[in-house]
Amino acid sequence: MLDFKLLPVKDLQKSFLKDFDCGIEVLNEFLSKYAQKNDSLGIGKTFVALDENNKIAGYFTLATAQVAFTEIPNDYRAKLPKYPIPALRIARLATSKSMQKKGVGKWLLKQAFIKAVRVAEVTGLYFIIVDAKESSKTFYEHYGFQKFKDEDLTYFILLETVRKAMMPAR
Ligand SMILES: CC(C)(COP(=O)(O)OP(=O)(O)OC[C@H]1O[C@@H](n2cnc3c(N)ncnc32)[C@H](O)[C@@H]1OP(=O)(O)O)[C@@H](O)C(=O)NCCC(=O)NCCS
Repeated sequence: MLDFKLLPVKDLQKSFLKDFDCGIEVLNEFLSKYAQKNDSLGIGKTFVALDENNKIAGYFTLATAQVAFTEIPNDYRAKLPKYPIPALRIARLATSKSMQKKGVGKWLLKQAFIKAVRVAEVTGLYFIIVDAKESSKTFYEHYGFQKFKDEDLTYFILLETVRKAMMPAR
């Protein structure tokens, strides 16, 4: 079974981060140049998955967010108050090019979901959202994320859906 060590980016040497290549330069550059800085500023928390050879298999970054009531699709509005609704943003998620299509992205997403469920125990958190890329939208759709609007690539999934999916079967 696929398993990795998941470490906060602040626990790794900065020089070690520059070898990561997911095929998308902005995501490589974020990890090597900005992830630790954003972590110490408290803007975004990045977690890095290391394989058994201590190579970076992938990473993800989480940050809080809000979704304006007007952005929420009609079908999801009924229960909600008309003010901004709290969310957790998967700000970045990427798998090393050499390890893509082997289940690493699924593993990373599961770790992000586990953290989201924990966060939701201590603060309001209704949606998990992600700004997908053309290259990753089918990945998020595969796991049940839906678009807020047809014309852009911001996706959401309800925290409640994730929580239920993660409950152990009885
Ligand atoms: C998108 C990305 C994160 C997927 O990671 P991955 O490790 O290749 O994905 P996995 O092997 O875990 O695939 C998980 C499942 O998603 C499915 N999938 C659907 N669309 C996919 C896509 N575009 N890319 C990869 N998997 C996709 C796979 O078939 C697989 O399904 P299965 O478990 O039923 O077989 C990875 O390709 C990547 O880092 N791409 C470049 C960076 C990027 O675009 N990041 C997203 C920006 S936030």
